[in-house]
Amino acid sequence: QQARIGVTGLAVMGRNLARNLARHGHPVAVHNRTAARTRAFIEEFGDEGVFLPAESIQQFADSLERPRRAIIMVKAGAPTDAVIDELAAVLEPGDMIVDGGNAAFQDTRRREAALRRRGLHFVGTGISGGEEGALNGPSIMPGGSDEAYQALGPLLEDIAAKADDGTPCCTHVGPDGAGHFVKMVHNGIEYADMQLIAEAYDLLRHAAGLRPAEIAEIFRGWNEGRLESYLIEITAEVLAHTDAATGGPFVDIVLDQAEQKGTGRWTVQTALDLGAPVSGIAEAVFARSLSGSAELRAAARGLPGPGETWLDSAAGDRFADDVEQALYASKIVAYAQGFNEIQAGSAEYDWGIDPGAMAAIWRGGCIIRARFLDRIKEAYDSDPHRPTILTDPHFSDALGDAQAAWRRVVSTAAELGVPAPGFSAALAYYDALRAERLPAALIQGLRDYFGAHTYRRTDREGSFHTLWGGDRSEVPAG
Ligand code: 6PG
Repeated sequence: QQARIGVTGLAVMGRNLARNLARHGHPVAVHNRTAARTRAFIEEFGDEGVFLPAESIQQFADSLERPRRAIIMVKAGAPTDAVIDELAAVLEPGDMIVDGGNAAFQDTRRREAALRRRGLHFVGTGISGGEEGALNGPSIMPGGSDEAYQALGPLLEDIAAKADDGTPCCTHVGPDGAGHFVKMVHNGIEYADMQLIAEAYDLLRHAAGLRPAEIAEIFRGWNEGRLESYLIEITAEVLAHTDAATGGPFVDIVLDQAEQKGTGRWTVQTALDLGAPVSGIAEAVFARSLSGSAELRAAARGLPGPGETWLDSAAGDRFADDVEQALYASKIVAYAQGFNEIQAGSAEYDWGIDPGAMAAIWRGGCIIRARFLDRIKEAYDSDPHRPTILTDPHFSDALGDAQAAWRRVVSTAAELGVPAPGFSAALAYYDALRAERLPAALIQGLRDYFGAHTYRRTDREGSFHTLWGGDRSEVPAG
């Protein structure tokens, strides 16, 4: 018997993906650099389906039906290159290598081009949902050629999560690095989502004076409404959890320094290159960096804060509703920014990504799965080229309804000295986009003053320079 697909790299994600495939009736070849792990895998999970264990990469290749489909589940970066090299040496033209790790999309573009020259298909694939998703249905974002998707798509769609309407959370994102690009932005949005949730918690705790268990209940309530999402759901779980050692709230004994592996940072770096303003995602990444700057924080701890540090109780009662509004509005902004980055990347690399389809495959399986992704899908279905989801009637109405509360939350945070960079950046983005005129005009004037960088006028075509050091008359530029 031959395997329909193979998985090399049997750490927890690879292991669970292989089990997911086998449980769906697909014979799976399994391989790991250290063969002991393959043997342990078979011992533990061998009865879950048909597995063909391979001790060597040659045996792995031999056990796959042609054209071969091989999924790599190893650490992004150099380990991925090493496995690709090994694997490519034993494959034949027409075979497919799927990289299911969190690779940088530029690496994926490079690898795809190199393997294409050897007649191999390279399918950089974003997979979201953590360990549990890999086993029970992740959201899958494959890039690569149409031909490769034809051979792989049905298998991947089979093991992917299903949205409430039954459609698989997997679609062909676009050529070469498109899949990993979209996964990168997914993670950037994940950072923003988590930062906004963290700010909501912080405000409820340190402005309204609620205890973690009470805040958990508030999140549980929010999860019944428009904010319903996996991250809101698990926030309630984490906040309600009690530390066994101290008997106090778990959240109070965790070191407050958020770590990161790189995808959020890449989202912002890439956005800077593309000129896509993802300020909410950027604040989320910087908030993690700031939290981890232990020395800087220790040095600054004694700086003066405001006199007032708590809301009075009447205001405190209304506050949770205000925070819900601010959270929803800021979340809309973060997604709007992320989707705009996807559109900018798609235009830059000619990927032809359908943003509505991305919203659709994020509805289930992935970390940012949320009820409101249905609305984003609808917004793009009604106009695939819309400049921003913010102008979709559903979202513009929601922002209009939320804005008074959103502004109260941001000003309360500022008055009481509780940092809320995510909420503030989202509101500033909203107000900047709405503005009839921006002070960028003044910046242009300053640039022209000190560096003769020139400016354009609102009333005439062309570029101009004012003779600031002379009689201040205006001359055409260049
Ligand atoms: C997912 C997650 C997953 C991983 C992040 C965590 O979609 O399943 O995003 O990819 O949990 O990479 O990233 P940080 O360690 O940078 O928070």
